[in-house]
Amino acid sequence: MVARAAAAPSVQPIAYSHKQHLALGLECLDCHSSADTSAAATLPSVRKCMLCHAKVAASNPEIRKLAAFAANHREIPWQRVYGFPPEALVKFPHAPHVRASIACDRCHGDMTKATTAELQVKHTMGTCLGCHRQYKATEDCAACHY
Ligand code: HEC
Ligand code: HEC
Ligand code: HEC
Ligand code: HEC
Ligand code: HEC
Repeated sequence: MVARAAAAPSVQPIAYSHKQHLALGLECLDCHSSADTSAAATLPSVRKCMLCHAKVAASNPEIRKLAAFAANHREIPWQRVYGFPPEALVKFPHAPHVRASIACDRCHGDMTKATTAELQVKHTMGTCLGCHRQYKATEDCAACHY
């Protein structure tokens, strides 16, 4: 079940910063690995974080919290930022958008500046349809709704 998009920055269980990690040269798909093949972009497993953080900054308090999730075989309960109310019965698939070369930042803003989890772009039926008209993509109710 997806939480309603938050207007204020979400307080995350670990103080993860996109800005800091993207500056290392990591790509979006390194962590959101299904965005070009599936409906969900997916969030990375704690195991992915530990590939680096088993060594990198291991004594930092935030990284100790991270390591504790990993040691207990628990995923990090990230607060979701984007999403629609369940009653709107929306289905949003990433893959056709990424394959159509629509950049992540068009729908999520400039993540290279994001230090907290924050909704940067508001999506409504109007914003979906506005772009679909521009690209001559589908306006069929059943494409976007269950
Ligand atoms: C090192 C791994 C990593 C990389 C690289 C990364 N992300 Fe993330 N991303 C995360 C984690 C962890 C979260 C959950 C915490 C948060 O929301 O900040 C997340 C959350 C998000 C969210 C919020 C999803 C939601 O609904 O809560 C968006 C949007 C996002 N990332 C987009 C991007 C884009 C675009 C890029 C490339 C420019 C990118 N990410 C690169 C790890 C990564
Ligand atoms: C056409 C707009 C659009 C584009 C392009 C787009 N996203 Fe999204 N993204 C969304 C919407 C809308 C949601 C919320 C979907 C939902 O919850 O049903 C979302 C959700 C997410 C999430 C939350 C977790 C999940 O599994 O979906 C992540 C992470 C994310 N996007 C990353 C990315 C990355 C990385 C890219 C580029 C490779 C990207 N998005 C491109 C609109 C977009
Ligand atoms: C490719 C290697 C790599 C991956 C993968 C990675 N990180 Fe990092 N992370 C770093 C580096 C390098 C730093 C900067 C460390 C420093 O400044 O001492 C950092 C810094 C951090 C910090 C701040 C630590 C501090 O010193 O303040 C947090 C928190 C963090 N990462 C969480 C995560 C999480 C959560 C994930 C998984 C979603 C992740 N990282 C994945 C390399 C990585
Ligand atoms: C920035 C432009 C843009 C935005 C914003 C956008 N879309 Fe799209 N969407 C496209 C394009 C272009 C395609 C067609 C890709 C293709 O032809 O394969 C597409 C395809 C789709 C498809 C697949 C349709 C099919 O024929 O299978 C669905 C479903 C969809 N979008 C839903 C949404 C929803 C829901 C939103 C809003 C949350 C949204 N889109 C926002 C550009 C956009
Ligand atoms: C391109 C994607 C797209 C298409 C096509 C589309 N919708 Fe939507 N629709 C959405 C999204 C996204 C939302 C959720 C908006 C939000 O949460 O603000 C939504 C919300 C709704 C809602 C709920 C409104 C509310 O107040 O929550 C209804 C009813 C609805 N759509 C009906 C339709 C009908 C009928 C059609 C066909 C004529 C249609 N939609 C076509 C994307 C689409």
